[in-house]
Amino acid sequence: MFAHIRADLAIIRERDPAARGPLEILLCYPGFQALTLHRLSHRLWRSGLPLKLPARLLSQLGRSLTGIEIHPGAKIGQGVFIDHGMGVVIGETAEVGDRCLLYQGVTLGGTGKDYGKRHPTLAKNVVIGAGAKVLGAIDVGANTRVGAGSVVVRNVEADCTVVGIPGRVIHQSGVRINPLAHSALPDTEANVIRNLMERIDQLEGQVRSLQDNLRTMAAANGSTLSEARSGKAQSLKDREILEFLGEQS
Ligand SMILES: CC(C)(COP(=O)(O)OP(=O)(O)OC[C@H]1O[C@@H](n2cnc3c(N)ncnc32)[C@H](O)[C@@H]1OP(=O)(O)O)[C@@H](O)C(=O)NCCC(=O)NCCS
Repeated sequence: MFAHIRADLAIIRERDPAARGPLEILLCYPGFQALTLHRLSHRLWRSGLPLKLPARLLSQLGRSLTGIEIHPGAKIGQGVFIDHGMGVVIGETAEVGDRCLLYQGVTLGGTGKDYGKRHPTLAKNVVIGAGAKVLGAIDVGANTRVGAGSVVVRNVEADCTVVGIPGRVIHQSGVRINPLAHSALPDTEANVIRNLMERIDQLEGQVRSLQDNLRTMAAANGSTLSEARSGKAQSLKDREILEFLGEQS
């Protein structure tokens, strides 16, 4: 437990240039205080005692003092930093890997639909931005960053940047992700768009082959078929789609 507390102190000194020394961190960093109380309540929770109430009471004390609510059952790794902290909620079956950084207002919560393991698992070195919600028994891969205010409800691979509601991967390993790339389509809305685009491709193919047939018939009769032209509005829409895909027109 002391190794954990030492690592929690060290990470604050490493990541926050405003932290001047251990005493200041001890007295003025609610994230550190809440984690230290959690280390105690987690030990009590896992001690095998039939009564879980003391652990819950300790966790409630931490919540009253710091505004950070960590269920005693949550598993928190070494060198975790909860910056500012107010409004952070970490559920009973959540797991937070070593060196994760959580800002104020983060929820690692359940969706209310599951029993048993129902909270997220964060791998090492994950950053969750202010006010972001990570919900359900999902996995967030190592080094992933979740943008402030995002709501993540599906698994996220390692080395990603996720933003928005629902959270979408915008970067993976430093590379900007095409929002319609198949591997980066975590939500139903994007799936529907992809299906519609496939239908449009099929329909355009059918129209093209009908036009070819008509042209052949017209040529056999010695007449020509007038070409269909797309108007200004259509090319503007095409440009918008290309911009959405992050491609040059
Ligand atoms: C998500 C985050 C890590 C992205 O950082 P980044 O990799 O430098 O990304 P960029 O700033 O280049 O932004 C990339 C795109 O995502 C968008 N974006 C960034 N953060 C976003 C967020 N929280 N929600 C929605 N969109 C966001 C940007 O507008 C940009 O969009 P564009 O490409 O269409 O212009 C960062 O913006 C963030 O939210 N960090 C959390 C910080 C925090 O909580 N601080 C609290 C301090 S008290």
